Amino acid sequence: MEEIDRDTLFDFHGVSMSKTFTDNWDEVQNFQARPEDILIATYPKAGTTWVCYMLDLLYFGRMGPQRETSIPIHKRVPFLEITKPSQPTGKDLADQLPTTPRLIKTHLPPQFVPKSFWEQNVRIINVFRNAKDSAVSYYHFCRMSKGMPEPGDWSTFLQNFMEGKVVYGSWHDHVKGWWEKKLTYPNIHHVFYEDLIQDTGREFDKLCCFLGLSCSAEEKERVTTGVRFDNMKQNQMVNYSTVQSLNQKLSPFMRKGKVGDWRNHFTVVQEEKFDEDYTRKMKNTTLQFRSDV
Ligand code: A3P
Repeated sequence: MEEIDRDTLFDFHGVSMSKTFTDNWDEVQNFQARPEDILIATYPKAGTTWVCYMLDLLYFGRMGPQRETSIPIHKRVPFLEITKPSQPTGKDLADQLPTTPRLIKTHLPPQFVPKSFWEQNVRIINVFRNAKDSAVSYYHFCRMSKGMPEPGDWSTFLQNFMEGKVVYGSWHDHVKGWWEKKLTYPNIHHVFYEDLIQDTGREFDKLCCFLGLSCSAEEKERVTTGVRFDNMKQNQMVNYSTVQSLNQKLSPFMRKGKVGDWRNHFTVVQEEKFDEDYTRKMKNTTLQFRSDV
């Protein structure tokens, strides 16, 4: 595997970021959204790929086997702010998407989202996942992704996660920011990873309702089967096996897909400290998560 220098973190307008997600800033900020676009906006590791693929199958799953077997998910649903040497930027891929609607992914907090998305009243889907499972999933992702800053060991990473010293900054600020955004910008749908795990079909129905789509039982079956964890894990177009900078031998992108894996990582002391910090940071919000189902 090609050696790539790992990014470092820096403060970017009050949020910890790295160059992979900020180097194309002016271009990203000038992105021209269209009213029919759909933006999937999440904190990293919330189940973004799961929902992106669900939307992709919903809108374009019947375009035939050619698309299904040859276009990886990061080209079907471009990652708006990403920029890597000698590869097309996420912004360019989004600009060039031939489909309508254009499905676009971002991990930006709401204050960084390009203004045309708001001006065009673009539909936004937020995927939320409980903090502890997000931290665990993010830790393993940073280990295997050469494009991310070095995570250190689990206890180091967890401390940094609590302090917001990871790419995209504080989980607490990010999820609260998006949750509150809906008060002033109603065209947002919230999906919780834990709800998707509990009842994918029910969440699929809610998503269709938000998008103004009515689906037959066969359509629903086709999509919900395609996005099952085991099916996605085997599917080379969505399991990121085509991306060179990810070392899947260290930790697969489709890792566990469970609620509550944090219990296999947190010590009792870490849990107490995390909960105490969490209560303080989340006390002024109505946003509630489940860390077990
Ligand atoms: P784990 O590391 O806990 O397994 P993102 O796409 O935002 O990077 O999120 C990746 C996480 O979502 C990983 O979590 C991955 O396994 C999980 N995931 C992806 N598709 C899933 C699916 N169909 N069912 C359950 N979990 C899924």
